Amino acid sequence: MQAKLRLGVLGSGSGSNFQAILDAINQGSLDAEVVLVLSDFSDAKILQRAEQAGIAAGCIDCRGFKSKFPLESQQAVAQQLKQAGVDLVCLAGFMRLIGKPLLEAFPARILNIHPSLLPNYPGLHAWEQAVEDGASESGATVHLVDEGMDTGPILTQGKVAVLEGDTPASLHARIQQVEHALYPQVIRDYAAKLASLPQP
Ligand code: GRF
Repeated sequence: MQAKLRLGVLGSGSGSNFQAILDAINQGSLDAEVVLVLSDFSDAKILQRAEQAGIAAGCIDCRGFKSKFPLESQQAVAQQLKQAGVDLVCLAGFMRLIGKPLLEAFPARILNIHPSLLPNYPGLHAWEQAVEDGASESGATVHLVDEGMDTGPILTQGKVAVLEGDTPASLHARIQQVEHALYPQVIRDYAAKLASLPQP
């Protein structure tokens, strides 16, 4: 029997995507286990959710940097993820750019979910950018992570129409519904490809 997929999740905020992954696991639609949740903010709700679910969780020491992800911190995270036996790393609202230490430790094994149809509206507040731009549609993208800002190879996208009268908040809420369905599915599909990748 094949061993269960071991997921590590990194997030900076509310963790609703992490929750969607957990729900999919609990409902039996994703055959995986979240073995470690890490956040760069000690008070992030994602850590509370992990603790409530009895999942190992911890705070990343970013050495006082607000948005930079220092190389030493990335090395420490890579080590923690390896020690936990993580097969696949899922960024779920993690707000720092990933660099070599993590990418080399987990080649083609780090996924991200972004609230737009990339390459449109990378970076922060993508839903706000879409409304301000008068876009007729937006959505969510799951992609492999590289060193750029939301630039890695796209795995899948889900579309969301921008409605008349949409505010950034109302659009973001609908995009999040799509994200919550999309992310567990992509993880499940991508898991099938992991066997052909080098071991982390
Ligand atoms: C999501 O919209 C995700 O696409 C973006 O950050 C948000 C995180 O939300 N990267 P949550 O913490 O999963 O609720």
